[in-house]
Amino acid sequence: MEMDLLTKGFLDIPIDLSVDLFSEIEKLKKEKNAIILAHYYQDADIQDIADFIGDSLALSQQAAKTDADIILFAGVHFMAETAKILCPQKKVLLPDLNAGCSLADSCPADKFAEFKAQHPDHLVISYINCSADIKALTDIICTSSNAEQIVQSLPKDQKIIFAPDKNLGAYIRKKTGRDMVLWDGSCMVHEIFSIEKITKLKNQFPNAKMIAHPECEAAVLELADYVGSTSGLLSYAQKSDAKEFIVATEAGILHQMNKACPEKVFIAAPPNNSCACNDCPHMKLNTLEKLYNCLKYEQPEIIMPADLIEKARKPIIRMLELSAQFGL
Ligand code: 13P
Ligand code: SF4
Repeated sequence: MEMDLLTKGFLDIPIDLSVDLFSEIEKLKKEKNAIILAHYYQDADIQDIADFIGDSLALSQQAAKTDADIILFAGVHFMAETAKILCPQKKVLLPDLNAGCSLADSCPADKFAEFKAQHPDHLVISYINCSADIKALTDIICTSSNAEQIVQSLPKDQKIIFAPDKNLGAYIRKKTGRDMVLWDGSCMVHEIFSIEKITKLKNQFPNAKMIAHPECEAAVLELADYVGSTSGLLSYAQKSDAKEFIVATEAGILHQMNKACPEKVFIAAPPNNSCACNDCPHMKLNTLEKLYNCLKYEQPEIIMPADLIEKARKPIIRMLELSAQFGL
């Protein structure tokens, strides 16, 4: 493969319209012993072709245990990077290298190193939505599924830096009462919800349960009946007796909610702009066409220096060990 084909960050190779992308991707997966891991925020057709769909914790657990030779990560860069850190000997592919994350970008490593130096007696817990450089400066990685238990597992007087999501950090600090200083980062998708419009929806659907991801601002979380990771929100919706749900997270999760509970109604919480949706522009850069080219030509690939892999690996392994202890 010519390198200049990748100058855009993805393979922009025209695909014959007669190609059935679903069956070709299935064929390529078998031929190459490849696995497709997809996050809930991916487009519906990508979720449907994936071997495994999950939240950030479940996706990293799958990456760590797969015996596939190739991992194609249908998600964003930090997720594929995490899979590469866990499986340095495997080929890890990301359909579009431009699929970043506003939250990860809100925490540059040089600035974070200075922040860390100002709090020398603090332990660093970082949300998995951060770069490998931040992971290398971290003691324990967490996700929204295990953050509360990880913080609770530490000695009560342990001072903690929590990075990069101030909303998740503030939520965990409130729940645990622990001494935590927060990095001032946030996710563009979860900060956009309109309190006014959500309140109107709640009045319109008085029996609806409002469910929210902890990356949302405190004012949104206060309106919620349940707060949890994407997997947590899905499982709450499945188990609940309620018939209607207002869902405050990225709209991609509605695909699995509708599939799992066709008799229930899921309403995406509205953002405070004229747009009716709350899509993550990074997640939505992946398309079935890019995924097909990526698997066929095995590019773009995540390449990382061995020393960075080594440093970033420790806090992720710590998270996986603790999650296993918690039965997660
Ligand atoms: P989880 O799927 O782990 O809840 O994370 C949500 C998210 O924002 C991923 O980018
Ligand atoms: Fe990052 Fe937010 Fe998109 Fe998740 S939804 S990838 S946190 S920008």
